[in-house]
Amino acid sequence: MLTSKRVCLIVTGGISAYKAPDLVRLLVQSGAEVQCVLTNSGAQFVTPLTLQSLSGHPVHTQLFSLAAKENMDHHEGMDHIELSRQADVILIAPATANTLAKMAHGIADDLASTVLLACNKPILVAPAMNVEMWENAATQDNISTLQARNVTIIGPDKGELACGEWGQGRMSEPSQIIQALLDFFAPKRPLAGQHAIVTSGPTHEAIDPVRFITNRSSGKQGHAIAIALRDLGCSVTLISGPVDLPSPKGMTVVDVESASDMLKAVQSALPADIAVCAAAVADWRVLVPAQQKLKKDDQINEAKLQLVKNSDILEILSIPGPQRPSLVVGFAAETENVVANARQKLVRKGCDWIMANDVSAPTQTFGGDFNTVHLLTESALEDWPSQSKTAVAQQLAACIRDYFAISPDQIENLEA
Ligand code: CTP
Repeated sequence: MLTSKRVCLIVTGGISAYKAPDLVRLLVQSGAEVQCVLTNSGAQFVTPLTLQSLSGHPVHTQLFSLAAKENMDHHEGMDHIELSRQADVILIAPATANTLAKMAHGIADDLASTVLLACNKPILVAPAMNVEMWENAATQDNISTLQARNVTIIGPDKGELACGEWGQGRMSEPSQIIQALLDFFAPKRPLAGQHAIVTSGPTHEAIDPVRFITNRSSGKQGHAIAIALRDLGCSVTLISGPVDLPSPKGMTVVDVESASDMLKAVQSALPADIAVCAAAVADWRVLVPAQQKLKKDDQINEAKLQLVKNSDILEILSIPGPQRPSLVVGFAAETENVVANARQKLVRKGCDWIMANDVSAPTQTFGGDFNTVHLLTESALEDWPSQSKTAVAQQLAACIRDYFAISPDQIENLEA
């Protein structure tokens, strides 16, 4: 919804202006407060009365009007300044090639272009024109200039154009323009205020001062998850085993070696709202690592290491209690019966979600840049396409964002 969002809609002169009344109707329906500015050319296609009736406000057409002049005496009502000051966003739909050119070059010769030059608010434009005009280097240069000034360009779409030609130049449909506004107003840091612990990479379990037990994990997936959560505003503590990756910026990074160090670091990073255990923690450690380098004895052809099980960090984090993060996500690296084994792990470890990945071709998954995973929850299974580890991380972060977007009231309603 666009409830209480103040939109200044500038309608310029293209045939697509016929969609402007529908756009105003949808904006108002979405809860927006709409002030329309109509250029002289725009008024050839749509009447001020139509826009006024739908927006519920007088339509602004002239740079110099008597009403505005009267108000100027009271230091208010200078239309071109006020219109931009009072808006949360300026939307130009349709935006002609001429309007884009004037914007790019700072020309202010009517009310609409003067509002844009006086504007200190974000601007979104939905261009509409003939395909040749759109593809013309002059227009493309103007678009690049505007994008460099943070103007958001919506469309234009491909299709049959008013001139009868086919190509890119159709104004995006009003529903798409509304979606662009919704995206624009969507909170950019939806996980702000939440703390996530992410474990990543392998662990090294010492045999002696120079040798250790480890696995093939590169840490790429865990690090990408930490970055994706950070990018959604989450405060992240990344607890990483030894990896060959740069420490991501904008988060607390704790470097550890062994599973025991990782557990200690996780426990001292609590409390947390979210825990994602992406580390490939060694299941076993040497009971008593040698203090000095183990030497070969020419008389002995066999040696035994006494191993003891490491604590399961994911399982410990999942134990119900005041310290348990609201959402605990584990990974399941499986070489066979991927989903069935992962479901057993979900139940055994008591976590909320499991990301199951097939590591039957270990050299592709471990160290590679792509991953194919399945997201398992208590009641659902999602098969995700094979995609980059960054994309997997962003998709998981989006699921976590959606999980926290459900308010306690909504959860109660769902449960009722
Ligand atoms: N895990 C953990 N601590 C351990 C072992 C595993 O936190 N000591 C976590 C991993 O980070 C991962 C999940 O448990 O989120 C599953 O790890 P995985 O290696 O797939 O399974 P294991 O528990 O080691 O079981 P198995 O080796 O029998 O498949």
